[in-house]
Amino acid sequence: MPKDSLSITDNRTGTQYEVPIQDGAIRASDLRQVKVGDDGAGLMSYDPGYVNTAPCRSAISFIDGDKGVLRYRGYPIEQLAEHSSFLETAYLLLHGELPSAAALDGWIREITHHTFIHENIKKFIDGFHHDAHPMGVLVSTVAALSTFYPEAKNIHDEASRRMQIIRLIAKTPTLAAFAHRHAVGMPYAYPDNDLSYSGNFLNMMFLTTEVKYVPNPTLQRALDVLFILHADHEQNCSTSAMRNVGSSNADPYSCTAAAAAALYGPLHGGANEEVLRMLRAIGAKDRIPAYIERVKRGELRLMGFGHRIYKSYDPRATIIKRVADQVFDVTGKNPLIDIAIELERIALQDDYFVSRKLYPNVDFYSGIIYEAMRIPVDMFPVLFAIGRTPGWLAQWQEMLLDKEQRIARPRQIYVGPAKRDYVPIEQRG
Ligand code: CMC
Repeated sequence: MPKDSLSITDNRTGTQYEVPIQDGAIRASDLRQVKVGDDGAGLMSYDPGYVNTAPCRSAISFIDGDKGVLRYRGYPIEQLAEHSSFLETAYLLLHGELPSAAALDGWIREITHHTFIHENIKKFIDGFHHDAHPMGVLVSTVAALSTFYPEAKNIHDEASRRMQIIRLIAKTPTLAAFAHRHAVGMPYAYPDNDLSYSGNFLNMMFLTTEVKYVPNPTLQRALDVLFILHADHEQNCSTSAMRNVGSSNADPYSCTAAAAAALYGPLHGGANEEVLRMLRAIGAKDRIPAYIERVKRGELRLMGFGHRIYKSYDPRATIIKRVADQVFDVTGKNPLIDIAIELERIALQDDYFVSRKLYPNVDFYSGIIYEAMRIPVDMFPVLFAIGRTPGWLAQWQEMLLDKEQRIARPRQIYVGPAKRDYVPIEQRG
């Protein structure tokens, strides 16, 4: 019977060690029995970018990067995008199971009830410059919510945790839409609790003179599907930020602000914004080959391409391409789609991209849809943040309930100077 363990021989000393293997992993701390110096220090694993380090066990989302599979709590993303709603998916992520009809009704009612924000928040949104990036506004206002709900510090109290989770899912779209209204100099449009989650977001973004905003059902559904597709994605950069900050027992508003800040970067949730700027810069199909050559020379990255985990097509990108057609039936075709499709076609025939397994990711087509819906480019990462909020919160809660988790505190390999004595300033060269 083969043993579920790894035998390690330290070739410097001939000492043998046996390390158990569980769930396809060894515990990094088991390596510490292998001594590396006279001071008794144990062997560490060096892993910049955490490419082969699992900091947790998680039951929330599953990705098979080679096969292009994504599931939330076991349910294929394709089925959720087809049949579920964003709030139902949020419930699934947070509770582990799909809700009964009564539980879903109650959940939607609770979220809808908490969409309003304190009037004081409007005052400090007013203080931002007119051209403030809405992602900066979102990060700051989400963090500020912690000062309005000081009881959020009671992170080990289940009822308090639940309350803050509901508030965060409910208020993030309001903060996001208010950031947009401030940027365009429009009066803030208050939530309309008669509307669905996504319909209400469109209302807060676009209400002008009408007494009651009526969202287009196709666009409302498209937005809901886009939120579903972004809702969770295992231990990505922003989710890791959420868990890292949460591991110090910070309140969930501060953790979510940190996660949103991580999402803002152009290599993560900021990529959708960069894709659109890239497609606009390319401008015409005949300029694609020259652009690809620049990418291959290392001058630029093809934004919306490549993924740390997916080494075949990102399943979310496949669904988004379908949604784009439905949206264009209402809005008219966004001409950038033709450039994107041609860019994808040319890239996927080129050995540079094929050999590196670089395929379109979720961000490649999402921006083209948002633009067709008249959502400004700098709001794209904000929409990603709205969709990802339930995932961040589910991961945060899972971390708090996991007895194995401790404050996140990685090690380092020190490569700086050895001890040296302070030199008075007049004696420095
Ligand atoms: N364009 C051109 N070359 C690329 C790209 C790209 N988009 N992505 C990776 N490469 C190359 C990279 O230069 C490297 O080549 P070489 O081996 O010759 O040095 C190789 O592919 C591996 O790249 P890497 O940077 O080691 O891969 P990573 O896993 O660290 O990075 C990534 C993943 C998503 C940050 C990267 O693919 C990227 O920068 N993509 C563009 C930004 C983007 O679209 N981000 C959205 C990700 S999906 C949404 C989300 O979850 O945030």
